[in-house]
Amino acid sequence: MKGKFFLKTFGCQMNLNDSERIRGILKELGFSETQDWKEADLILLNTCTVREKPDQKVLSHLGEYRKNERAVIGVCGCLAQRMGEELLKRAPFVKLMFSSYNIHHLPELINRAFAGYRAVEILNEPPEDENELWNYKTVRDNRFCAYVTVIKGCDKFCTYCVVPYTRGRERSRPLESILEEVKYLVDDGVKEIHLLGQNVTAWGKDLGSKHRFSDLLYEVSKVEGVERIRFTTGHPKDITEDVIEAMATLPKICNALHLPFQAGSNRILKLMKREYTKEEYLEKVSLLKERVKGIALSTDVIVGFPTETEEDFEETLEVLREVEFEQVFSFKFSPRPGTPAYSMEGQVPEEVKRSRMARLLELQKSIYSKLSKKYEGQVVEVLVEERKGEEYVGRTTTNKWVSLKSSKDLLGKTVKVKVKKASPFSLEGELI
Ligand code: SAH
Ligand code: SF4
Ligand code: F3S
Repeated sequence: MKGKFFLKTFGCQMNLNDSERIRGILKELGFSETQDWKEADLILLNTCTVREKPDQKVLSHLGEYRKNERAVIGVCGCLAQRMGEELLKRAPFVKLMFSSYNIHHLPELINRAFAGYRAVEILNEPPEDENELWNYKTVRDNRFCAYVTVIKGCDKFCTYCVVPYTRGRERSRPLESILEEVKYLVDDGVKEIHLLGQNVTAWGKDLGSKHRFSDLLYEVSKVEGVERIRFTTGHPKDITEDVIEAMATLPKICNALHLPFQAGSNRILKLMKREYTKEEYLEKVSLLKERVKGIALSTDVIVGFPTETEEDFEETLEVLREVEFEQVFSFKFSPRPGTPAYSMEGQVPEEVKRSRMARLLELQKSIYSKLSKKYEGQVVEVLVEERKGEEYVGRTTTNKWVSLKSSKDLLGKTVKVKVKKASPFSLEGELI
């Protein structure tokens, strides 16, 4: 028994999945988890640095946590990878540091840190033994839905993005290792498998010609006990015919896709190095809507990329109007040190970003309320994930939260629900 750990996670689903594995390792080492940093012996922050805001959050949290003088304070994840030594200069009380490259070295690093030494290992490249990470089990909050990371890193180098620098080049996880984890999860009661990667559709490219992402979808689909499959994030360029075909024909694949378009103007898309035009993106959307009936699309948008004019921004709104996404994650452009867009001329003033963002949100509000209306009266299939008293909540395959009341035990079951009330991100219904 080594004591208690407190783990705080920022950032994307990949980071959440990394944290689940960190939990698994720490529990194996004999730690137990606490939700109160004041009583922790180990405080660990799994960080994100995709925009400036998460950076600031990490630093302000560290300032708070250092008041627990007894604890070993550690930082891991993307900010640790990006800042390395510089972060240690700003927070010299940090004794433990690693990144998503070397989570599997944690047992050794922990021993060093608890023996009173500095345990800092920030590598320039992922180590050779990286696949050892998969030997560790995750500890999850959700009993029925689980993330499975299938590819790490990103080769796209969009000009605004730090991810290729913090997570390195694309490395696909071997098929056998993925299937082994999927089978383990199913045995553990999981019904829904969520395949993860910053650029998940690139899976297999580095594994030889026989592996395409669509092949992985078929393989996971074959695993008995898997009821639903999701995947995040697909790059529009890599959502190829074969992936659409798999989505259209495999009943286990959820009727939802997160497909970031970032900007509507071709000039801006080119500056971003997104490798598609607005027209190509819209064409892909049409194909998806045609082949995968009722598909729910969601997206990411950046507002105020350098040199973005009023006309450019109008084109972004045009795409939103045309596609009618069920969910839009919009971000004000945040210049990231080390990326090409950081030093581009024509940075857009903060007030302009803010007002464009407000207009975008206003437009989305009306689209959301229009779209949610279509659910009223519909019968949807819900995988029930949680119980809160008499109330159950779960999701549709289109990724909408649904609440319903029942006196039966519905946890982990997929049930049919008639929707009585629909608001933009959640539905209320009755069991039928
Ligand atoms: N791999 C995913 C997303 C990675 S980051 C993809 O390619 O779609 C998640 C989102 O953060 C991005 O889609 C983008 O919209 C946003 N983002 C990334 N860097 C940003 C920056 N410098 N400023 C503002 N938003 C950014
Ligand atoms: Fe970043 Fe682009 Fe890679 Fe997404 S595809 S992680 S936005 S570089
Ligand atoms: Fe953030 Fe790293 Fe994910 S920068 S968005 S935690 S890949």
